[in-house]
Amino acid sequence: MLYGVIAVVLSYLLGSISFSIVIAKWVKGIDIRQHGSGNAGATNTLRVLGKGPGILVFLLDIAKGIAAVWIGHCLSDNGWIPVLCGLAAIVGHNWPIWFRFKGGKGIATTVGVIATLAFVPALCAGLIAILTIVLTRYVSLGSLLFAALTPLFISIFYFSVPLLSASLLICLFAFVRHKTNIVKLLQGTENKLGAKKGS
Ligand code: G3P
Repeated sequence: MLYGVIAVVLSYLLGSISFSIVIAKWVKGIDIRQHGSGNAGATNTLRVLGKGPGILVFLLDIAKGIAAVWIGHCLSDNGWIPVLCGLAAIVGHNWPIWFRFKGGKGIATTVGVIATLAFVPALCAGLIAILTIVLTRYVSLGSLLFAALTPLFISIFYFSVPLLSASLLICLFAFVRHKTNIVKLLQGTENKLGAKKGS
């Protein structure tokens, strides 16, 4: 039990390392949260700093989701712990203790967490999300679709209460964090991938 708690706390602290904030500070000396969409994430890093830093942040944010699930696997035999660790990493990314609780929207970290916990559902939801982004150039729409389709594919491919409950919660986090994007999507004013101007 103690090791389970330690794993969840470590995962939260790991998730709280906001790579977009760290890399933007390092590369350009700026706070990414004051530029572009104001989001501390890979899409905004791509928008503000370009492809290289954007891809690097995306990969590192995915990696911390993967690492959090593995911390859970390594420190506990309880099936709930890797799932709770994944959730904790996403919570850390969205509300990071190291950066005054003002973080990102958690999608790249969610990709890492879901791909490690449930690879096939992540792959199915991921392919649909990528296709949506390619066709519409709305990253937020692809992100929301990924979050919404994950519980559906998990319920088709697995029967796991921890996984299904976590994916529903993750979906809720994604929709809460994308509130502004949803309004802009409905108004037709959402940023498109490749467009320079911030929202
Ligand atoms: O995952 C974040 C993405 O869906 C939207 O990012 O910067 O356009 O709000 P942004």
